[in-house]
Amino acid sequence: MIQKLHWTLDGIPWHKLRREYVADSEELFYLVTSASFVETASDLYARNLVQHFADDHEVSSWLECFWEPEELQHGRALREYVRHAWPDFDWETQYARFFEDNSAVCKPEFLLPKRSLELASRCVVEMGTASYYTSLHRASAEPVLMELTRHIFEDEVGHYKYFYKYFRHYRATESPSRAQVLGALWRRLKLIEQEDGYIVLKHIHCTRHPDQTYGKAIYKDAMARCRKLAAKHFPYRMSANMFLKPMEMAPIVRRVVQPFVQGMARLVIS
Ligand SMILES: [Fe+2]
Ligand SMILES: [Fe+2]
Repeated sequence: MIQKLHWTLDGIPWHKLRREYVADSEELFYLVTSASFVETASDLYARNLVQHFADDHEVSSWLECFWEPEELQHGRALREYVRHAWPDFDWETQYARFFEDNSAVCKPEFLLPKRSLELASRCVVEMGTASYYTSLHRASAEPVLMELTRHIFEDEVGHYKYFYKYFRHYRATESPSRAQVLGALWRRLKLIEQEDGYIVLKHIHCTRHPDQTYGKAIYKDAMARCRKLAAKHFPYRMSANMFLKPMEMAPIVRRVVQPFVQGMARLVIS
């Protein structure tokens, strides 16, 4: 299978980047740099997932030939953006420290043994990233960041569709209960917020505030500021739709539940 990326770093007009739009925003610095770290570390997740689906040629080749190259390209493009927008940040050194910490929590044993449930939880990750880049796209008036986040958003939605398709395939044979699917979705959602976010911010925050000792209180405060920025631009409806889709509810139930989930997301994010 030959991978053809539908956009490349060479096609991004880096010379049009307006530093003055983003340079002083600590929140944008945190959001973009965090994303560049997590995306660059995708090969760790990819390796675990490919092993998990080793006997399924269709899923493992899609992961290796499409999903992983696209995620790694997101990492390279965001790193390039950070280099242009915040040239004082020593990306390589801080990424190496993050990578060491992240490797300890990104292990194959953390994957869910039921494939349908692992695929449902991957849908949550892609929902999270699609929402993240939509918020970033809307929150910044900087033209290059807007273009970049639009490309990445489109890729993340594409990933969601594939993971959802494979989830449905395995659901047909494994028949997980709705409670199990909801459990997998919820567990992944909490992990994104608690573990992944905490570790990634640790190695970014210290460069801005070397005098402070990083801990839960600092993380919560930084997250609150980033949420405040994202809340105004967060795609609540799209996220609720993507979150609920693997639950396979009857349309009438979904019409009742969806506004509730949207409201919950508003409460959590704002
Ligand atoms: Fe990505
Ligand atoms: Fe993705």
